[in-house]
Amino acid sequence: MIDAPTSARGIVLIGAQWGDEGKGKVVDLLAGRCDAVVRFQGGHNAGHTVIDDGRTRVLHLLPSGILCAGVECLIGNGVALYLPQLFKELESISGGGEKRLFISPGCPLILPSHIALDQARERHAGRGRIGTTGRGIGPAYEDRAARRALRAGELFAPREFRQRLRSAMSLHNFMLEKYYGAEPLDPDRIADQWLGMAEELRPMIDDIGIRLRRLHAEGGSVLFEGAQGAMLDIDHGTYPYVTSSSTVTAGALAGSGARLEQIGEVIGVVKAYTTRVGEGPFPTELNDETGEQLAREGAEFGATTGRPRRCGWFDAAAVRSAAQCASVGSLCITKLDVLDGLETLRICIGYRFEGRNIDTLPPFMDRYADCEPRYEECEGWQESTCGATRWEDLPVRARAYIRRLEELVGLEACIISTGPAREQTVIRRHPLGH
Ligand code: GDP
Ligand code: IMO
Ligand code: MG
Repeated sequence: MIDAPTSARGIVLIGAQWGDEGKGKVVDLLAGRCDAVVRFQGGHNAGHTVIDDGRTRVLHLLPSGILCAGVECLIGNGVALYLPQLFKELESISGGGEKRLFISPGCPLILPSHIALDQARERHAGRGRIGTTGRGIGPAYEDRAARRALRAGELFAPREFRQRLRSAMSLHNFMLEKYYGAEPLDPDRIADQWLGMAEELRPMIDDIGIRLRRLHAEGGSVLFEGAQGAMLDIDHGTYPYVTSSSTVTAGALAGSGARLEQIGEVIGVVKAYTTRVGEGPFPTELNDETGEQLAREGAEFGATTGRPRRCGWFDAAAVRSAAQCASVGSLCITKLDVLDGLETLRICIGYRFEGRNIDTLPPFMDRYADCEPRYEECEGWQESTCGATRWEDLPVRARAYIRRLEELVGLEACIISTGPAREQTVIRRHPLGH
């Protein structure tokens, strides 16, 4: 029997905008103080940037704790797993990371036919496309919901695996050929390739829920690393322009098998402005010189696809709503330095919708595109915040800006990031204590 622990030492860290908030940097920053980091949703559509010893690394599938020696890295059952990417990433980080990596047998596998379907569907949709990352995420999660997914644990029963793969792929190929007019793929070639990776995978397969609950019982601290952001959540996001998994806090439990009591704090990571990649409504988007300046100063290019990110002002109404539905308890505000030098800053405090003012998202998200932002202005600062590590060292107006964001969202900012590197951070309150 597992004894109940005295206090929860789990932190859920999720994006509270449309992704790319800087989660990778913050996870890497906190991971050194944790026993384990766990991914619980999404797949290699994520792109989490970590600066390690001056080197820029982008992790798509591996938890961002992998660069911290001694930290266990877990991939929960909610993650859609593309095996070639897993091994590619493991190879790119030298130093035996695979010995501290454990993967749930329940992870649904992404197959090449899911990727082909994702891409064919986007081509076919033309202007109605979602702007996906083309990584097969949607089709793989569809198969999971339809109960025809192949899961990681099935790789160890080769005959059954091959049969089930043929069956799943006969449907994929039917859609590819007959509906999208695309080339079908050979299931036996893919079965050979996937079964060929099974032995290398085998030592990493483990029950992630049991591992997490054991860590909890022992008083260990766990960091749940969200991918994407709350506004891309399949249920609560800007549907249909969303990803196909649960990016909010609830996903951390469903996608890992952890206990609710294990979660002590939920941190929502937000940029000091807003970005979005792909299609879909974005009320505070700036299609002007200022938008270009944010993109340039913030180097806003997708870490997965290299696409330019759309940029706009901070949307307090969106963050407030996202934070509420994701049970966020405090904020981490990143990329403050990108706003250095702007004369005037704007913050969206709510929307004009159907002739009235609203402070939250509209009741039904298909009307989100009809929301016009209502702005408040504040004065910018001309000094540099880049690399600042102390609250007192931030310019007065930068502090006023942060305080106003906190007030509008209704949450304190425990961490403020002032540059891409680990040490370029103001920690006002460490989520794991002193
Ligand atoms: P994630 O998907 O949430 O992990 O974020 P990404 O890694 O996709 O994108 C965030 C980008 O901003 C990366 O290039 C980071 O190196 C960078 N970054 C993170 N925090 C800061 C910051 O405070 N200032 C600046 N200038 N860049 C940052
Ligand atoms: P990280 O973890 C930003 C977006 C895509 C598209 C939509 C659906 O780095 O924050 P998908 O391939 O998931 O079916 O695409 O979601 N998207 C992201 N945007 N950051 C991400 O991940 C994203 N992952 C998916 O651009 O609009
Ligand atoms: Mg990213």
